[in-house]
Amino acid sequence: MKITIIGSGYVGLTTGACFAEVGHHVLCVDNNEAKVQSLLDGQIPIYEPGLEALVRKNVSAKRLMFTSSTEEGVEHGEVLFIAVPTPPQPDGSVDLSFMEKVAREIAQFLDSYRVVVDKSTVPVKTGERVANTIRRYAKPGVEFDVVSNPEFLREGCAVADLMKPDRIVIGGNSDRALALMQKVYEPFVAPVLVTDINSAELIKHAANSFLALKISYANALSEICEAAGADVLKVVEGIGMDKRIGAHFLNAGLGYGGSCFPKDIAAFIAISEQLGVPFHLLKEVETINHRQLTRFVDLIREALWVLQEKKIAVWGLAFKPHTDDVRSSVAIGLVEKLVEEGADVTAFDPKAMEKTRQLPIGSKITLAESALEAARDAEALIIATEWPEFASIDLQQLREVMRTPLIFDGRNLIDPAAAAAYGFQYRGIGRGTSAMLEPMNSP
Ligand code: UDX
Repeated sequence: MKITIIGSGYVGLTTGACFAEVGHHVLCVDNNEAKVQSLLDGQIPIYEPGLEALVRKNVSAKRLMFTSSTEEGVEHGEVLFIAVPTPPQPDGSVDLSFMEKVAREIAQFLDSYRVVVDKSTVPVKTGERVANTIRRYAKPGVEFDVVSNPEFLREGCAVADLMKPDRIVIGGNSDRALALMQKVYEPFVAPVLVTDINSAELIKHAANSFLALKISYANALSEICEAAGADVLKVVEGIGMDKRIGAHFLNAGLGYGGSCFPKDIAAFIAISEQLGVPFHLLKEVETINHRQLTRFVDLIREALWVLQEKKIAVWGLAFKPHTDDVRSSVAIGLVEKLVEEGADVTAFDPKAMEKTRQLPIGSKITLAESALEAARDAEALIIATEWPEFASIDLQQLREVMRTPLIFDGRNLIDPAAAAAYGFQYRGIGRGTSAMLEPMNSP
C-alpha cells in the first residue's frame, strides 16, 4: 500500500519505518529540509534501538522515502497519517496549531479520496475539527475521511511496540476508511479494536492517565510505607500478584517524566474541564508525582544538612532507561534543584550526556565519563534513573571512590542490605524498614 506520514519526528519516523518493513511504500514528509536531507543521507536524529537499521534497510529497498513537500505526500499516499507535534501550552491544554496547519495543507492538495489519520496524541474531538477544516479548505466535492489511530509507543522499545502491538485502535465512522485501515494493519498480528473517532481519541488519554495513576498510587504508598516502617517493594509485589491489578507500572520512585505522561495528563485534565466534567482524580495524580521529588530533595537536605558546596554524584539523567531523552526528565529537575541550592553536581548517564550538555543546566554541572568517575570524592550519590547497569555496580569499588558513603536511591535499584554490608548509609523510596539498617564497617 502507498502510505504517507506527515511529520517525521519520533512517532512519524518510527511508524513510517515499521510500515515500510512490512512491505508498504512509505513517504515521510517533514517541513524541516535539513532533517529530510540528513534522513536521506541515512542519519537518524533520535536514539531508538533498532530504528537506524530499519530505516537504512527500507530506504535501500526503496520502500521508505523522504520529502519536504506536503503536495508530494498527499499525491503519494492512499492513507495520510498526521504525526506532528502537539505541544503543551502553559495552562496544560494542547497546542493544536500544527494539526490545523497540516489539515489546511492537505485540503489544498486534495484531488481524490484519501483517508486522513490522526496519529499524534490529541484531545477528544480533534478528529471532528480536522474533518471540518479539510472540508472548509478543500475543493468542493472532493472526498476524504478522517480516522483516529492513536500510537502507544514506549520510547526505547518503539520498534518492538509497533511491530508487535498489544492492540491497534482504529476510530472512524466510514466503512470505506476502515477497510483501508484494516489493509494498512493486515501484516501486523494484533487485536484490532474499531471504535468511533471520539472514543479512539479518549482511549489514548485514558490509557496514559491510568498508567500514571498506577505510578502515583505506588508513590503514595511509598510515603505511607516510610511512615509505617514497611517496604513498598514488598507491598506492591503483594498487590501486583492479584491478576486484576497486575505488577506493571507499580514501581515507586521519583515519579514519572518524559515527553508523554506529564503532557498527556495535563491535557486530559484540561479537556475534562472544557467538557464541564473536571477529572479531579488526575489532579491528585499530578500532585503526588511532584511531591515525590520535593520529598526526596527534603530527605537529601535533611541528611546533608546544607547542600551548598557539597559534592554530589547523580547517576541517570534520561527520563527513563534505554533512551537519551531528557525532556521533562525528573532526573534533570532534581539536578536543577540541587544546583539551585549550591551543590557541586557531577553526573553520568549511559546515553543522555549529549542531550544534557545542550540544556542550560548542562553547563552548570560536571559530566563524568563513567558512573564510578561521577562518584569519585562525592559526599553523596543519588540514583535518579533506573538504568540496569547502576543496579549491578560493584559496591566495593563504589565505596572506595566515594568520600562519604551515602546513597540516595530514587529508583530503588540497590539492595539496602548489600549497601549496608559495604558500609553505606542507604535511603530508598518507601523503604521504611531499610531506615532501620545500620551501616556496618566496610568489609
Ligand atoms: C508512555 C506510554 O507508556 C506509551 O504507551 C505512550 O504512547 C507514550 O507514553 P514513554 O513516555 O516512552 O511511554 O514512557 P514509559 O515507559 O511509559 O515511562 C514513563 C515514565 O514513568 C518514566 O519516567 C518512568 O521512569 C516512569 N515509571 C514507569 C515509574 O516511575 N514507575 C513505573 O512503574 C513505570
